[in-house]
Amino acid sequence: MSTRQTLRAGVLGCGEIGRRGHIPGFQAAGIEVVAVCDTNLPRAQTVAKEMHVSRAYADYKELLADPDIDVVSVGLPNVLHAPVTIAALEAGKHVLCEKPFATSPALAEQMIAASRRAGKMLSINQHLRFEGSSRAMREAVAEGRLGHVYLADVRMIRSSGIPGYGSWFTNKDMAGAGALYDIGVHMLDLAMFLLGFPKVTAVRGMLSSALGEQKIGLGGWGIDRGTSGRFDVDDTAIAHIALADGGLIRLIVTWAAFGASEERVTLFGTQGGADRSPDRYGRDTPLRFYQAGKGGMDAVIPDLSRYPSGGASASIASFISAIRGESPLMVKPEEALQTTRILELIQQSALSGREIAA
Ligand SMILES: NC(=O)c1ccc[n+]([C@@H]2O[C@H](COP(=O)([O-])OP(=O)(O)OC[C@H]3O[C@@H](n4cnc5c(N)ncnc54)[C@H](O)[C@@H]3O)[C@@H](O)[C@H]2O)c1
Repeated sequence: MSTRQTLRAGVLGCGEIGRRGHIPGFQAAGIEVVAVCDTNLPRAQTVAKEMHVSRAYADYKELLADPDIDVVSVGLPNVLHAPVTIAALEAGKHVLCEKPFATSPALAEQMIAASRRAGKMLSINQHLRFEGSSRAMREAVAEGRLGHVYLADVRMIRSSGIPGYGSWFTNKDMAGAGALYDIGVHMLDLAMFLLGFPKVTAVRGMLSSALGEQKIGLGGWGIDRGTSGRFDVDDTAIAHIALADGGLIRLIVTWAAFGASEERVTLFGTQGGADRSPDRYGRDTPLRFYQAGKGGMDAVIPDLSRYPSGGASASIASFISAIRGESPLMVKPEEALQTTRILELIQQSALSGREIAA
């Protein structure tokens, strides 16, 4: 590790998120990406050439040994997040890991311990937190404008969104879980963020793989996707998460469903409500606040223009700012550990068919 003032990045994984999210995100933040890595070396070399990156490695250990690199992103299949993140921290790099943070709470704890030992920053690309609508909802909750939020209803329904039959996404040994880890973690993290990471008391979960097993619902994501091959993960995850303050998070996510695609976050509070639905209200003004009015409930369209735009670029810019000490870390690994514990409880509950105490 050098003592240069200028940060330089390495990107691990040249698949969809590495190419579309991480490299452009670092570059937009003014950080030079000096190396990329992918076991598919021709893929890494092509991406490096197209995106003005000077080095391409096939082995992540070679990239981690590169002294020019201060910060890395981990955009690899889920089961690699923990070992590669720990190796990167031990090599003295700051790490932005993809979601899901880890495939078990024990691994998440080891990642946090490695970050503390190394004195390097660790964060997770939970970029939905950076959307203007998420910021506005979080402010409303934190300022008490909604009163006590007794229900956070979060859903991401993709009617045809299975990321390739036979890809790592649908292989339990590589992914750990399916829709639960792919999109469930996004919506769960968002709900927990909006509510200020409340204490959870019990979880009831249900997982289904009925459409995936029929090989229907194929979607567009996944660089190595096929139309046949192994599928042994969930395509749907549903959970009721009971909170110590008496509230509830209801989570519904699915990669494939006989129903319309929808992404929605609704907060029901004792003094007001919030509803984020790009499908219902349009992408430009996706959020409504609800408050008591003369004739019943008034819907208010908030001005989101004062919030910076979201996405992976906002998440990466925020992480870089935290490394430089210019702002606090927005996505803390301890929060991701809490989310990882809930994801495990959802799986345990689904297996046992019972509610599990947290
Ligand atoms: N934050 C988000 O919104 C978001 C969006 C998409 C994906 N992701 C996450 O990013 C990760 C990658 O997803 P993706 O869609 O880019 O997958 P992908 O299949 O498109 O890309 C993964 C890449 O990793 C490479 N790879 C596999 N094993 C490797 C190894 N040992 N060393 C180096 N390279 C290796 C593969 O060759 C492939 O190019 C997943 O954890 C996924 O959950 C996050």
